[in-house]
Amino acid sequence: MLRLFAPDFFIGSLDPAFRYNLFSPKKAQKGFSLQSGLGHRNKKNNNTKNTMKIVVTGGLGFIGSHTVVELQNVGYEVIIIDNLSNSSEDVLKGIIAITGKTPIFEKIDLREKEAVRDFFKKYNDVSGIIHFAASKAVGESVQNPLLYYENNINTLVYLLQELLQKDEASFIFSSSCTVYGQAEKMPITENASIQPAVSPYGNTKQIGEEIITDVVNVSNINAILLRYFNPIGAHPTAEIGELPIGVPQNLVPFITQTGAGLRKELSVYGDDYPTTDGTCIRDYIHVVDLAKAHVTALQRLLNKKNVEKIETFNLGTGTGSSVLEVIQTFEKVSGKPLPYKIVDRREGDVISAYANTDKANEVLGWKAHSTLEESLTSAWKWQQKING
Ligand code: UD1
Repeated sequence: MLRLFAPDFFIGSLDPAFRYNLFSPKKAQKGFSLQSGLGHRNKKNNNTKNTMKIVVTGGLGFIGSHTVVELQNVGYEVIIIDNLSNSSEDVLKGIIAITGKTPIFEKIDLREKEAVRDFFKKYNDVSGIIHFAASKAVGESVQNPLLYYENNINTLVYLLQELLQKDEASFIFSSSCTVYGQAEKMPITENASIQPAVSPYGNTKQIGEEIITDVVNVSNINAILLRYFNPIGAHPTAEIGELPIGVPQNLVPFITQTGAGLRKELSVYGDDYPTTDGTCIRDYIHVVDLAKAHVTALQRLLNKKNVEKIETFNLGTGTGSSVLEVIQTFEKVSGKPLPYKIVDRREGDVISAYANTDKANEVLGWKAHSTLEESLTSAWKWQQKING
């Protein structure tokens, strides 16, 4: 479960020029060299106060923390909001070890509207927001749907209400390929139809996208919806990675824990699917590639390169791998056999889902580079590190 939070932009009392600065790419970029990448100060203005501030909600979570690293690597000043519901403050140490920079951290629960409002009174010169904060466990969402609607929807509404006060806002939303359900055609393009959600979690991603679209259409908010396929792996330094609470529900953390002897064996959910080896096909993307896509998407908005006020991109590798292929690749990189057994299908699993990445490659100008082998190598290195 990853539960995080987004900001409230309370700007009503600010001077209009300052307000504009808050979310205006043009003004905010003053002093930056666009050629050398956002956040790189140009020669004329060496004032560190001009470094753009980016709010990352859920910035101590799995994808959030890797994104904070990539943002800091290109010079942004990052302010993390996280309520630590599915993360730890220790993640900050890993971020600092990799980047040599300390992000600002505010422990805030985005369901507390006043706290969020206070946050944006305090940080009134933010240039963009990347919103990861959300709960993400499919099974838990079925058991406790209101937790999901409150955590994933209420907080988004509060955030957008505050953004509406701004003259301009740049907003990146963490969405999922789950919105496509079982797509008719592989690979999946962004134009594939949205299927009825099979869980409250999936529904929050669909509703979230719809809410943002409705708001963007009547406001000065510009947004990019990023639909992730299956994020895996860890930072190659093994300073940060995935920290599942309890028994992992996702394939790769379960595999690495089994490889480390923490779990007896992996259950493979079904080998009678209509695929080459009978197991389900997914598009496993390295979390660092995914994190870099967020930086690219943010820069697209801040540089006003977006052609529509709301744009959607699939973030995957474009390659599908079966569960058995993932197991075999893990065995190769770890040098040990992985105990597993075939069990019944898991309810709600789609047969196959992998991305058509043409739009992300050509329009966003981003491409995933890591192979499945590299991703699993980093996941294994991380698992060995946290095992001690
Ligand atoms: C799951 C969620 C999806 C969510 C994503 C977040 C479901 C049905 N879908 O995607 O909504 O956005 O996580 O990361 O829960 N597998 C096994 N044994 C295991 C675990 C998984 O065989 O112990 C198989 C699954 O059947 C699937 C593949 O591995 O074929 C990947 O599973 P998982 O990592 O849970 O991801 P998704 O189901 O694709």
